[in-house]
Parts: sequence; structure tokens; C-alpha cells
Amino acid sequence: MDVTVVGSCNIDLISYVPRLPKPGETLQGSKFSMGFGGKGANQCVMTAKLGAKTAMVGKVGKDTFGEDFLKNFNNLGVDTTHCCTTAEVMTGAAPICVDETGQNSIVIVPGANLLLSEADLAAAELVIAGSKVVVCQLEINPDVTLAALKMAKQHKVRTILNPAPAIPLKHEFFENTDIICPNETESVDDAKRACKELQARGCGSVVVTLGAQGLLVSVEKDAPPTHVPAPSVHVVDTTGAGDSFIGALAFFLSTRPDLGLVESCRRAVQIASISVQAPGTQTSFPTRSQLPQELFL
Ligand code: RIB
Ligand code: NA
Repeated sequence: MDVTVVGSCNIDLISYVPRLPKPGETLQGSKFSMGFGGKGANQCVMTAKLGAKTAMVGKVGKDTFGEDFLKNFNNLGVDTTHCCTTAEVMTGAAPICVDETGQNSIVIVPGANLLLSEADLAAAELVIAGSKVVVCQLEINPDVTLAALKMAKQHKVRTILNPAPAIPLKHEFFENTDIICPNETESVDDAKRACKELQARGCGSVVVTLGAQGLLVSVEKDAPPTHVPAPSVHVVDTTGAGDSFIGALAFFLSTRPDLGLVESCRRAVQIASISVQAPGTQTSFPTRSQLPQELFL
């Protein structure tokens, strides 16, 4: 495998609304759509759409959502040998509101995601050991995420952690993460502070996404970080843009290690900026043939 993702699968239930509702308020939306989401699945699908050999380690419910999820992975060429199912709870679900400016608010009901166990992970050890890059987020049981990062490091596999949603983490998470990619901070100064702090805790490199401002990349602890701007585009729906970025980053790091982290980030941000111009999550992620071919030179 080029990339193995250990993470979440959610069905996204997206309502397009004029603005995000206030507490107690009932709003009328203009459109509803259902799609495959979850940070893990999104990142995995992005790498697969770019042409990497990709595997997903995750858990879905024994329900129609779960069945559709596995079919979707298989259609995209994602290896689902270690995508398990459970009859105990439903596939993860994420009701999402997207407003007219493309901003969103998301509720996540993890369901089956939280039942992915360390035993399930152990069954995937060979796949993980044979991958170039392992990607994790925090939408499954954090103990399983940590076990996946450790397992990857034991086999000298490069690890990427997208620490979302933000929860307090033990130091071992940082020590077993080569590249940590936290989502949107407020300003470039905050991002600089985050880089310093995360590298002091033991992460190799830090990539902080800054939304429309692009991102800040700190390759090494004592070197100054690099600001990578994002192209300015007409934003339709930012849902999953961070996942598009991380999936694309994992694609470049695994298939083009010669590019290095900063150039991989430059290319990945181009791809993520395309995803925000179309509605939906995975449906807005471009495939390799839809992209300028110079991104792959
Ligand atoms: O990052 C976007 C994703 O977050 C959505 O697909 C939703 O499922 C939540 O996990
Ligand atoms: Na989108």
C-alpha cells in the first residue's frame, strides 16, 4: 500500500441553509444531500482518487449506510479487507448545515466508529507495516488511534495525524507522529505558536491549515516555518476541504517522496482549493484526470 488510513466513516446528511441556525430556531433549507464522509474515509478517498494504492481500516454498521459505504470504497479502488462491520450500533452519521458563504456546522454521531477495536487494528498489522504512510484522525477511539500510530512507527512507516476533533492528547501521540496537521487556527501568529508547541512535544513536522490563508509548514524544530498561500477561489462548500488537503498530502508523500514536505503541501493546497468550489464532501474531491497534469510532474 501507499497509504493506509485508520479512521472514521460517517454518512454526511447535508442541509444547505441561508445561515447557521441559532439555538431554538427553526430554519428552512434550500437543498439536502447525503454523501460519504467522516474524516478518515474522506482522506482515504482523496488519496485513492489521485491514484495511490490505498487501504481503509475502520468500522461501519450492518445497515444500508454501511453496505453503501463499502461499495463506494470498492468502486474507488480502496482496499476494504480491514473495514469491519458491527450489528451493535449504526454507521456513524454527521448531520451538517452549510450556509450561503460555504461555512458549516457539524454534529457527529460516531456509532460504529467507536467500536473499532485494538483487536481489529492488530488484524491489519501486515497492511500497516507494508504502507508508506499511515494517516489517523481522532474520530475513533483515541486509544486505537494511538495504537495505530505506534504500530506504524514500530514498522518505520511515516505517520500523519490530523488531531480533529481537538481533544487533550497524551505525549505519546506527539512522539509517534511524524507530521501533525491541526485544522484552522485564527491567525498566522497562532499557527506559529502551535508549530513551536507541537514540535516541543515531539512531533517531527507541523502543518497548520489556515483556511483561505493557506497554511503554515514547519519542517523542522529550529527552522523558521514556511507560509504556503491558498489560491483565492469562489467558495461553495468548505466541508471536507481539510480532508482533501490531508489526503492529497499523503498521496504526494507516499508516491513522490522526492518532492519534500513544503512542495507536497503546495500541491495539496491546490487540490483542496478545487474541492471547496463544488458542493459536498467526497463528491467535490477531484480525480487525477480532472487536475492540471503539472501537479504530478
Ligand atoms: O471533515 C469533514 C467531515 O467531518 C465530514 O465528512 C463529517 O462526516 C465529519 O466527520
Ligand atoms: Na466541497
